[in-house]
Amino acid sequence: MANALLEVENLSTWLAANEGTVRAVDGLSFSIERGETFALLGESGSGKSMTALSITRLLPDAGRIMSGAVRLEGEELLALPEAAMRRVRGRRIGMIFQEPGSSLNPVMTVGAQIAEVLERHTALRGGEVNVRVVELLNEVGIPDPAGHVHEYPFQLSGGMKQRVMIAIALACEPSLLIADEPTTALDVTIQAQVLDLLRSLQKRMGMSILLITHDLGVVAEMAHHVAVMYAGEIVEMAPREAFFRNPSHPYSRKLFASVPNRQARDKSLAVIRGMVPSLAGEFHGCRFADRCDYAWDRCRDVIPAWVPIAEGHGARCHLYGADAPQGKDEGGRMKDGD
Ligand SMILES: Nc1ncnc2c1ncn2[C@@H]1O[C@H](COP(=O)(O)OP(=O)(O)OP(=O)(O)O)[C@@H](O)[C@H]1O
Ligand code: SF4
Ligand SMILES: [Mg+2]
Repeated sequence: MANALLEVENLSTWLAANEGTVRAVDGLSFSIERGETFALLGESGSGKSMTALSITRLLPDAGRIMSGAVRLEGEELLALPEAAMRRVRGRRIGMIFQEPGSSLNPVMTVGAQIAEVLERHTALRGGEVNVRVVELLNEVGIPDPAGHVHEYPFQLSGGMKQRVMIAIALACEPSLLIADEPTTALDVTIQAQVLDLLRSLQKRMGMSILLITHDLGVVAEMAHHVAVMYAGEIVEMAPREAFFRNPSHPYSRKLFASVPNRQARDKSLAVIRGMVPSLAGEFHGCRFADRCDYAWDRCRDVIPAWVPIAEGHGARCHLYGADAPQGKDEGGRMKDGD
């Protein structure tokens, strides 16, 4: 896609672990358009965070990008020297993570932490920086922003800390915000406020968001496009409406089936039978086969290819392939409401 803001192509990231080489990200391809929210959805261990850390090149020491391309506005990030990559982070890509406060410095005031980012990445100096810091705290909905400038993170609630994180991430008006479970640690009311805030800031700044979540409710409220990740791969990708109308991969359907109600939604994905398989070995068939109600011989012996289902909608599943047995195709057992 020529106009995409971010293009990820065939990205593979391996991690050295006790159990061997973990293929945490295995041939991922997707693109994010300008101004859109692209949700990466999947249960724990599916490789969502490693995808984000690969894009930003902030992998742990054990991690290595083995292949692929990551293009931001056409520029290959994987080929940049580290010094140039540091300028990309914070200025063109903003990042917020799950734990409010985990990325804040406990011994620096919130004002000083925002000022530091502005001084590193913009031409603002002195009084201009201070004015912008208060403006940013105001934009992220912190009441009495001038009063909070001199406070330390421990003096703020979880929701307020997450707002400070957002202020830091957005200080330089990045074109892409990567938000890895930005509201999981927050209670439901604060979560809704933070999501609202992200949406309104996105509208004003026109930025794209890569939103990592295991929460279908968050996807429903925020996403324009959805990719479902399972065991290091994308198993389904679709525009939001198509995804909610017709989730097609058996794993996606399980995600829906495992959401009993909105209150319990963020705890619910764990109820899917079985576990994500170990990523330390090679796969010879479908990674979901051990948990799939539709699996047949072929699923264990042949790696499923990506199959287009509709415009912009595809899945990695034999059910949609030409060789699916009668009754296992979309017109059969996989009908809506199945
Ligand atoms: N530092 C590490 N060293 C070795 N393996 C790791 C490391 N961090 C994560 N992994 C492994 O990489 C795989 C992908 O992990 P990742 O953190 O990307 O999952 P995730 O989808 O973000 O999960 P969660 O929803 O729990 O955050 C998992 O198998 C995990 O055990
Ligand atoms: S390929 Fe087979 S095992 Fe895998 S999700 Fe599709 S039906 Fe299930
Ligand atoms: Mg994660």
